[in-house]
Amino acid sequence: MCGIIGVVSRDEFPSRFLLERLKRLEYRGYDSYGYYDSTSLKRNLGEIIVAGEGKTRIGIAHTRWATHGGVTSENAHPHMGCDDEVVIAHNGIIENYKDLKVMLEKKGHEFSSETDSEVVAHYFEEKLKEKKDVKRAISDFLKEAHGTFAILMMIKGDDSIYAIKRDSPLVLGMCEDKLILASDIYAFSDITTKAIFFENDEYAVIKKGSYEFYAKDGKRIRKDVTSFTWQQEDSEKRAYKHFMLKEIEEEPLVVARMLLSLEHEQKEAFRRLVSLVKKSRKIIFAACGTSYHASLLGAFYLHTTGIEAQTLIASEFKHYANVDADTLVIAISQSGETMDVIDALKYAQEKKAKVVSLVNVPYSTIQRMSALSLSIMAGQEVAVASTKAFVNQAALLLRLAQEFGYKANLANLAEKIKGLIAQKDEIRRIAKDMSRSKDAYILGRGQTYPVAREIALKVKEITYIHAEGMMGGELKHGTIALIEKGTPVISLIGCKDEDMISNSKEVEARGAKMIIITNNPDYQGKKGKAKIKDVVFIDTDNDGKFGILACVAGQLLAYYAADALGREIDKPRNLAKSVTVK
Ligand code: F6R
Repeated sequence: MCGIIGVVSRDEFPSRFLLERLKRLEYRGYDSYGYYDSTSLKRNLGEIIVAGEGKTRIGIAHTRWATHGGVTSENAHPHMGCDDEVVIAHNGIIENYKDLKVMLEKKGHEFSSETDSEVVAHYFEEKLKEKKDVKRAISDFLKEAHGTFAILMMIKGDDSIYAIKRDSPLVLGMCEDKLILASDIYAFSDITTKAIFFENDEYAVIKKGSYEFYAKDGKRIRKDVTSFTWQQEDSEKRAYKHFMLKEIEEEPLVVARMLLSLEHEQKEAFRRLVSLVKKSRKIIFAACGTSYHASLLGAFYLHTTGIEAQTLIASEFKHYANVDADTLVIAISQSGETMDVIDALKYAQEKKAKVVSLVNVPYSTIQRMSALSLSIMAGQEVAVASTKAFVNQAALLLRLAQEFGYKANLANLAEKIKGLIAQKDEIRRIAKDMSRSKDAYILGRGQTYPVAREIALKVKEITYIHAEGMMGGELKHGTIALIEKGTPVISLIGCKDEDMISNSKEVEARGAKMIIITNNPDYQGKKGKAKIKDVVFIDTDNDGKFGILACVAGQLLAYYAADALGREIDKPRNLAKSVTVK
């Protein structure tokens, strides 16, 4: 959450370049944004507008996802101290900001925002007043500040950017004439492939054409320059109204690419993953949100083959997981930066468990802290609601389960997704109808239970319709009380799943408006035996692919319902793509 940018250049550049780079990080938060280019400080609410007349050689910028303090221009970054000597942009949370604030107020500092971040500017201003040099002040800060931070700081009369990192991501990109500090490589991956990744409690002094890295005790350290590659789809929306639809339509391409990579460039890594699964007594996944739902599907696939597999929502990992040296913990994360997952992995590592990961964004923290990491190769997801990443995560897990005897034909998965996308006009019609409701329920069993939860999440986050995804069997234990005449219920019926058919009939009998996503031929066509009007028929075997395909149908349903409601689909309210706070 929150994206930060710092640029130091050999030559003058237009200040709007700071905003151009920041725009590429907008998916990290879009409540407010701002920049400081050594002459002016600009802060605005809402979406980043790339504009500005000035020129500069240095500047910092920030896009915010609000945690401490509302969405106001006072709370927007960058923040300054009292005398405008120090300007900072911060991503993370300064946990002991209240104590630091009291200490600074006693020394006469006055605060103008409700944020935790503003204390950082006052802290350094105070240290400089006490005649500390900046490096000693940073060493003090690293001792005194608690919490997570990636901080970029500029000081009046000094032509450097000071960059400090603990637990929030920070990377330095190297371009021919510029050094660019950023929350992740996507900020500059279109103009360079060379970067240095900060580790915890390191800081750097970036000047025109030079950089120096230091450990927290102030000792100079040598850092390796990484040459990175990242397969990106063209991130322009082109003819699409929204990135979300573009990303759903990319699914056939990216899933085929990922499966192929397991035979070629990721063959060795995949072989090592299989071998680690074989050697471990049990597998526990750790993930959040959509990635958690993919891991639940993975636990289902592996469990079916007799492997002891379970998954936990990462923020509850340490409360519910028993891990030891014989446990393999598999983190699943699109961004590779989700703080709850990082925390779960640290806990697992303390308990001596082996940690591996499946991530999308390369060189992310989770990838770098894993003993082994496979790429899901979905390419950049711009829409906040995750779609193609889910498909690739689930397909990779299905491929893994195949190694242990799970029967599935993955060779035609991409074709089947294409076939489903071709039904989008019919899905749009069903979705338009659903968009008029205030609630929706999604039911699944076995492989479709995780999918029911994932579809509900998609419906909630982009339509703002209340939705619950649940086990078909659990409905009668309470939730069925909420079914009224006309309540939409999406039932995910795998071929011959008589129990799901019964659960669907139970709600239908109470007046629910049924939407069936199925591969059961009884529902096929308007004159299908089951006589249900709203059916998305998926022509596939019931071999583990059905879950993935049913989810794609749900993604399209959620998308078209949100579109019918005129929602901000790619940037839903209150959300951010990368969740780097607890
Ligand atoms: C929902 C969504 C989120 C993420 C979750 C985990 O569409 O995108 O629920 O799945 O925040 O993020 P990653 O996968 O980056 O760890």
